[in-house]
Amino acid sequence: MDKALTYNDDVVRQFAIMTVVWGIVGMTVGVFIAAQLMWPQLGFDLPWLSFGRLRPLHTNAVIFAFGGSALFATSYYVVQRTCHARLFGDRLAAFTFWGWNLVIVLAAITLPLGMTSSKEYAELEWPIDLLITVVWVAYAVVFFGTIMKRKVKHIYVANWFFGAFILTVAVLHIVNSLAIPVSATKSYSLYSGVVDAMVQWWYGHNAVGFFLTAGFLGMMYYFVPKQAGRPVFSYRLSVVHFWALISVYMWAGPHHLHYTTLPDWAQSLGMVFSLVLFAPSWGGMINGIMTLSGAWHKLRTDPILKFMIVSLSFYGMSTFEGPMMSIKTVNALSHYTDWTIGHVHSGALGWVAMISMGCIYSLLPRVLGRDAMYSTKLIDIHFWTSTIGTVLYIAAMWMAGVMQGLMWRAVNADGTLTYTFVESLKATYPFYAIRLAGGTLFLAGTFIMAYNVWKTMAEAKSVEPVPVPDPA
Ligand code: HEM
Ligand code: HEM
Repeated sequence: MDKALTYNDDVVRQFAIMTVVWGIVGMTVGVFIAAQLMWPQLGFDLPWLSFGRLRPLHTNAVIFAFGGSALFATSYYVVQRTCHARLFGDRLAAFTFWGWNLVIVLAAITLPLGMTSSKEYAELEWPIDLLITVVWVAYAVVFFGTIMKRKVKHIYVANWFFGAFILTVAVLHIVNSLAIPVSATKSYSLYSGVVDAMVQWWYGHNAVGFFLTAGFLGMMYYFVPKQAGRPVFSYRLSVVHFWALISVYMWAGPHHLHYTTLPDWAQSLGMVFSLVLFAPSWGGMINGIMTLSGAWHKLRTDPILKFMIVSLSFYGMSTFEGPMMSIKTVNALSHYTDWTIGHVHSGALGWVAMISMGCIYSLLPRVLGRDAMYSTKLIDIHFWTSTIGTVLYIAAMWMAGVMQGLMWRAVNADGTLTYTFVESLKATYPFYAIRLAGGTLFLAGTFIMAYNVWKTMAEAKSVEPVPVPDPA
């Protein structure tokens, strides 16, 4: 059959498989640094195994390699199916796959070597930043090119979320990475002092809003209705959700800079916008969950749907918690403590990782020409390891965080501190052990997924390209 009349699922398959591979790599580093926090000797006095270098390796690997691959795979899959068109530019799409993976490999080499711009979630040095820009522009051309050649007049809401994610990440990356190089491996930010901090957290918070949220909401709007076999609960709500979310997120960054030298009014502005953000976040979550109206019974037998619905519950939890933590008096307690780490992972494990896994399970058999994954039982086991792992992780960090905050602020009648810092650290160890157990469980589930994916692929020897529906 003429290639132009079929979907380009090669690149979707490639990214789907790399989602699992990078998931295992990133989470293994996560488990390792969680163990280092209990047993610092695990650094073996080697600079490239030190916590300070492996931590950004973990964050880059899970966010950009694992999350990024899931976003590429699902956006390429969804935009073709909802536009009834083959992906624009076969070669360009292939370039985004190889280019993005080159970025990840370069990150995995340079970060342990200590090469860093020292901006959180934007640590990579300028030559890699340039490569990211080229790959991202190619991604935008492929995605919007496909929208342009669509055979369906309407642009489905999932594409709006994917599109906003692609455009905004381009702007964030370029503005925050502006720097003056002094050598091939070192540069200094164009900004200085508090302006640097503000640009960094404008980037940082929108990285959460657009890299870790908007694209995954795109996944939700396509895969939850598909898996449930029901139309989206309210299309009108999805449109309101979209515009409200993208316009409010932009202003919430200063909540990362409470009680710093950032002007007080800017901090309060960040707090107010964060509180407002609760509304569109929950509007979206409810829209996703209510899509199951009339199909709740499917949760009993379909573990993929369970992944999706539980991930939405974690999304609801973390977007309730976030606005609370942005209130200055609450942040005075939570900031610098493990509470923040608990919040991060309720979003990262519960929402981002679980929705990605659900969507990859849903999409993979379809691009392999099969009816279902090799084993539904294994998906169910994976669902439980992920859920229990996430709960152990975040509950431990909440308890540790609140305890740390209270111990640090406790004062005696004469004004001296009640506890030394080391005492608070010692009291944290049991919680670090629980986090390590939860993380290990979560990682074990990802290995189960890898096995299931492997077996599914092994059974799908030759894959026929899927034809694009005929508009007639
Ligand atoms: C097996 C699963 C995982 C384990 C065991 C794990 C463990 C850790 C540890 C130990 C830290 C450092 C905490 C500290 O500095 O005190 C961390 C940080 C972080 N992790 Fe994970 N992680 C896992 C999965 C993920 C995933 C899937 C994501 C994202 C999709 C993620 C995103 C992050 C982020 C953003 C930070 C930095 C948090 C901050 O700076 O506040 N992690 N993780
Ligand atoms: C309404 C939505 C949300 C709001 C208002 C919000 C608010 C906050 C606040 C106040 C902090 C603590 C800042 C500090 O004390 O340093 C924080 C940290 C963080 N949040 Fe959220 N959050 C939201 C949703 C999410 C979601 C869904 C995710 C993940 C998918 C996420 C990921 C993070 C990360 C990675 C950090 C740590 C940043 C760092 O210090 O490295 N947040 N958030």
